[in-house]
Amino acid sequence: MIIEGLLTTCDFQGQPHVAPMGPVVDEKLEHWRLRPFQSSSTFENLRRYPYAVFHVVDDVLSLAQTALGLESDLQFAKVDNCWILPSACHWYRLQVTEWDLSESRSDAQAVVLEQRIQRPFWGWNRAKHAIIEATILLTRRHILESSFIEQELGRLESAVEKTAGTRERQAWELLRQQVKEGR
Ligand SMILES: Cc1cc2nc3c(=O)[nH]c(=O)nc-3n(C[C@H](O)[C@H](O)[C@H](O)COP(=O)(O)O)c2cc1C
Repeated sequence: MIIEGLLTTCDFQGQPHVAPMGPVVDEKLEHWRLRPFQSSSTFENLRRYPYAVFHVVDDVLSLAQTALGLESDLQFAKVDNCWILPSACHWYRLQVTEWDLSESRSDAQAVVLEQRIQRPFWGWNRAKHAIIEATILLTRRHILESSFIEQELGRLESAVEKTAGTRERQAWELLRQQVKEGR
């Protein structure tokens, strides 16, 4: 199964890089396989320095912003030469131990070095899920038809209208704006 969250890696200057990622895990979160595309900065960072922190988060605005390479209000703190997000619910500090580079989406086996629960998970609502779906669509807009993206956003919109809070509304506006501007 897959868990979606935010992964921090170290860039070439040792500074934090953050991107949403969906590693393959087991239910107990003991076995991890990261799958960054070889074209991504996350891949490049992990090849140079094979340590990362996966964060379970409940804020979809920062997820949408970081997926689109936009600025977010995320803060970082350093733990054992890795970057953690103090606002996240849980984190897992990982070390990549094995690579499979046979596909454009790499497959990196990782072990958990350390894990922390920082605060309770806020909970679900349909708007949060809709924004995760919409964000994924936008990260794939170079391979998807724009009419398909419009249709899917139309389908997701009512969940946002019915259940969003302020951060979800901001995320939705941001995604809509990106589509409008054809970015
Ligand atoms: C929920 C979610 C899960 C994602 N999972 C992955 C993933 O497993 N691998 C990947 O390469 N990109 C994934 N992406 C897309 C990246 O976050 C996005 O392309 C990002 O801009 C690329 O990362 P970079 O900043 O490391 O280049 C995901 C995006 C979302 C919203």
